[in-house]
Amino acid sequence: MMQSLIILGASCNAHDVLDIVEAINLVQPKWHVAGFLDDNFARCDRFLGFDVLGPIAAVHDFQNHMFINCIGSQSSHRDRSRLMLETGIPISKYATLVHPQANVSSRARLGLGVYVSFGCCVGGGAALSDGVSLAPRVVIGHDTKIGCGTIIAPGVIVSGFAHIGANCYLGAACSVKQYIRVGDNALVGMGAVVTRHVQDGEIVVGNPARTFQRNVVGEPEIVSSTTTLNSNVSIPIPTMTEGVRQ
Ligand SMILES: CC(C)(COP(=O)(O)OP(=O)(O)OC[C@H]1O[C@@H](n2cnc3c(N)ncnc32)[C@H](O)[C@@H]1OP(=O)(O)O)[C@@H](O)C(=O)NCCC(=O)NCCS
Repeated sequence: MMQSLIILGASCNAHDVLDIVEAINLVQPKWHVAGFLDDNFARCDRFLGFDVLGPIAAVHDFQNHMFINCIGSQSSHRDRSRLMLETGIPISKYATLVHPQANVSSRARLGLGVYVSFGCCVGGGAALSDGVSLAPRVVIGHDTKIGCGTIIAPGVIVSGFAHIGANCYLGAACSVKQYIRVGDNALVGMGAVVTRHVQDGEIVVGNPARTFQRNVVGEPEIVSSTTTLNSNVSIPIPTMTEGVRQ
């Protein structure tokens, strides 16, 4: 039976989610995209060919739907977990979406509200907490942990045994050395090569990555990572032999 899916946030991240949904449905019809909820669009607007059904607060009019969060950018990433909690949607109503052409180890763990885009690789022992978003061609090394709400841009490579905090933004094509810890709410600029630990809320750029001096994206607003979102990621995913996980 088809399940109805609502995308939170009429943002360009939705391209990745729509691609995932279309690819899953080609394997086996599963998701019907009902539309978007977004505070910045008028009801009845259209976005990427789908209706904008109302503001985020209208979630309660859609009790029988599942949700996925596409809100999140280099300037709003710190608010992602708080936003998901403030909707009042139980975490169980968030869909976990994996592109059939992503390669997720059977020994990895994905939380709820996670999406994994085309061409991603997630290694064995890796754990993605609730609300993590992976853009296309991200590589998450074995045994690496990613905190709630973190958003990872295209082409990022995180090596093994790294620990990425909650609500981080890892910019396009950056890379993170093994065993490195990136604190909550941190931002790694595009192309950065992270070879040392990154503090909570810190912004780093360059090779090797150093603190970004001109903090023109605003002072980091620290959002506690001790949210009730699930950072223990207990959702097992089916084995690779099934080819598709959703
Ligand atoms: C680091 C970042 C947040 C800074 O954004 P910003 O504050 O708007 O920065 P600006 O574009 O105003 O650039 C300010 C300075 O920093 C430099 N700079 C910006 N990003 C940089 C980066 N990733 N690496 C090295 N230098 C960078 C700029 O060249 C500029 O230098 P200048 O003052 O000598 O000219 C941003 O550039 C970034 O990397 N964001 C991630 C983008 C991304 O991954 N997008 C993917 C979307 S799918």
